[in-house]
Amino acid sequence: MLQNKIILLTGGADGIGWECAKAYAKAGASVCIADKNPGGKDRLNELKNVNHLFMACDITNEKEVKQVMDNIIHQFSRLDAIHNNAGTGHPSKPLHTTTNEEWNTLMDVNLKSIFLTTKYGIGYLKSSKGSILNTSSLVGTIGQENHAAYVASKGAVNALTKAMALDYAAWGVRVNAISPAAIKTPMLEAWGKQQPNAEEITKYLDNLQPLGKMPEGDVIADACVFLLSDAARFITGCVLPVSGGAELGYRILI
Ligand SMILES: NC(=O)c1ccc[n+]([C@@H]2O[C@H](COP(=O)([O-])OP(=O)(O)OC[C@H]3O[C@@H](n4cnc5c(N)ncnc54)[C@H](O)[C@@H]3O)[C@@H](O)[C@H]2O)c1
Repeated sequence: MLQNKIILLTGGADGIGWECAKAYAKAGASVCIADKNPGGKDRLNELKNVNHLFMACDITNEKEVKQVMDNIIHQFSRLDAIHNNAGTGHPSKPLHTTTNEEWNTLMDVNLKSIFLTTKYGIGYLKSSKGSILNTSSLVGTIGQENHAAYVASKGAVNALTKAMALDYAAWGVRVNAISPAAIKTPMLEAWGKQQPNAEEITKYLDNLQPLGKMPEGDVIADACVFLLSDAARFITGCVLPVSGGAELGYRILI
């Protein structure tokens, strides 16, 4: 479904991003991972096909993002998609106890990163009639206790997705978001450890989704392959819940 497409994937070294990297490669794409964790390079040879790229990069750093884009164009001469997936769930606390530094870092990773990849990548996407995909979160739509800055950042990602979809539609560039509920990843594990009832948290997360227990990132990756493929050619500005129905309503769990 993604034959010969060149995809920039931020935060592709682990968690949901790594599942997406595998799915994109399997669908025929060349995956260009930009991740702050240099260990991600060692995983590249696990990917199907051969022509992939790993770039150690802090996605909040403008110079490094520009360098990432230059590297991709140098190697592949084109860019078909940007998947803005890198994110942080830290801190998990109410707003008034969030420090300035925590607020700024979280907003930089979850939001400014999209601004930067768009700033340096949109020209190439206009040429290829490409596509942008943002990893949002269901909590950006329905809210979450004890996670104020994160919720705000993901609400902004949803709004930004629609604004960008309108701005770039004239060039045939589609912009969508996926909205997971709970997915088993290192980030979610770290979030769980910050909760007051950490030992009960897995049970809580398993019960969130009417369709079943907390899944792995492959359920997200399959939806991402679709949204970046030509099968989704008339879909833009969509924030797609891939949540097992977690947002559908009150449930009786006793
Ligand atoms: N896991 C969940 O339950 C869940 C639910 C909803 C939304 N999300 C979103 O999915 C995305 C991926 O989350 P995950 O759970 O796979 O997280 P993760 O922590 O498991 O993986 C995130 C990856 O992003 C990279 N990264 C973080 N900051 C970076 C930076 N400044 N520059 C470059 N790379 C950076 C990390 O090194 C890591 O490889 C995030 O945007 C997150 O908000 C996750």
